Amino acid sequence: MLKGKNILLGVSSSIACYKAAYLTRALIKRGANVQVMMTQNATQFLTPLTFEQLTGRKCLVDTFDRNFEFKVEHVSAARWADACLIAPASANVLAKMAHGLADDMLTTTVLACDCPKFAAPAMNTHMYENPATQENLETLRRHGFTLIEPGEGYLACGDVGKGRLADEDQILDTLEAAIACEKDLQGKQVLVTAGPTQEALDPVRYITNHSTGKMGYALARAAMLRGAQVTLVTGKTEIPKPRFVEVRQVVSARDMYEAVMEKADRQDILILAAAVADYRPRQVAAEKIKKMEGDSVLELERTDDILATLGARRRPGQFLCGFSMETEHMLENSRKKLEKKKIDLIVANNLRQEGAGFGTDTNVVTLIARDWEEALPKLTKDETAMRILDAIQARMAP
Ligand code: CTP
Repeated sequence: MLKGKNILLGVSSSIACYKAAYLTRALIKRGANVQVMMTQNATQFLTPLTFEQLTGRKCLVDTFDRNFEFKVEHVSAARWADACLIAPASANVLAKMAHGLADDMLTTTVLACDCPKFAAPAMNTHMYENPATQENLETLRRHGFTLIEPGEGYLACGDVGKGRLADEDQILDTLEAAIACEKDLQGKQVLVTAGPTQEALDPVRYITNHSTGKMGYALARAAMLRGAQVTLVTGKTEIPKPRFVEVRQVVSARDMYEAVMEKADRQDILILAAAVADYRPRQVAAEKIKKMEGDSVLELERTDDILATLGARRRPGQFLCGFSMETEHMLENSRKKLEKKKIDLIVANNLRQEGAGFGTDTNVVTLIARDWEEALPKLTKDETAMRILDAIQARMAP
C-alpha cells in the first residue's frame, strides 16, 4: 500500500530506537522508499549503519551531512518526502518541532516539510504527562501533525504507564490511511457487510457457512483508505478488525438485517459481501436438543433478504452493490439477482474456479451492471476490492 511512497523517517533519542529499525524494514516491505535521519543522541542507541543497511541510503545525522540525491540537503529531503514520520519522537524533539527550532538536520528538515507529518512519541510516562509535553503535543496537533499515541505498559525505565512507542501496525496503518490512496471517496458514507451469519438451533449448535469475511474486510479497508467513512457490519470471523472503520459485530441474519437497516438511510454506498443465511431454524430450542431414536427433520424458515429490502426502499443517489456466489450458470444467475434485487452492481464469482471463493487471499470475479460487464483476472482480495470501488465510483451519480 505504500508502494513508491517516499518516507522521511526521523529517529530521535529513545530506547525505542531499535524499534525504528523494525519499522524501517516494515516500511520497505510495504513498498516505501525510506530516508532515515537521526538526531546525534539517537546514534548512541543505534548506529546510522543499521539504517543504511536496511534502506540502501546514507542515514543523515549532521546538518552538513550529504546524501548523493540531495542538493540543499534539508530542503531537498523535505521536497522529496511524501510523508515525514518521527518515530520514536522524544520529548526534546517534540518540543523543538512545536516551537520551530531547527538546530540539527532532523528538525531543520521537518521545518521545511510541507507533506503530511506524523509523530509517534516515546518517553517516560512522567515526561509524557508533563504539562509542557502535553502543550507541545497540542501545538503540534494544531500545526497539522498526526500524533500516534504511545501505548501503556511496562516502560524500559521501570515505570508503568503511558509512553511506550505505538505498535508498528498502528504506526503503519495510520500512515497508510493518510497517504496510501487518492481520497476519491472523501465525504462518502460506505457500509460493508462481511463474513458468515450463525443461525442458532439450540444453545450449543448453529447453522453457518464457510465465509471467512476476507473480501468484505478488504472492501471496508479499501474504502477507508480512499477517504470514506466506513461502517463494517460483520458476522463472526477470525480477522483482526480494520483500524479507522466503525465495526458492528453481529451473529445472526436477523442481527445483520437490524444493524444494516439502522444505518442504511445515511449511506451513500452499501456493499453487501456477507454470506447471509437464506434460512434459519423455525424453532430455537431453549435447552440443548437431546438425541432420540431414529432420524430427525429440521424445519427452516426464510430470513429477510437485506439486499432486496435495500433495493426496494433505497433513497435517490444511493448505490447498492451485492455479491453472488455460484457453482454453475454464474453470469445468467447473477444478472437475475441484479434485476430481482434492484441493485446497481453485482460481483459474481464461481466457487469452482481456482483462486476464487472462501478463505483464499485471491478472487476471480466478474463485475456486472445493467449495461456493462467486466471479467477481472485473478487478483488479491485487496486488489479486487479496489477494482470494485473503481467500478462503483465510475457508476455513481455525480
Ligand atoms: N443477501 C442479503 N440477505 C440475505 C441473503 C443474501 O443481503 N438474507 C445478500 C448477500 O450479502 C449478497 C447477495 O444478497 O450480496 C447474495 O444474493 P443471494 O440471492 O442470497 O445469493 P445466493 O444465496 O447465492 O442465492 P441462491 O441461494 O438463490 O443461489
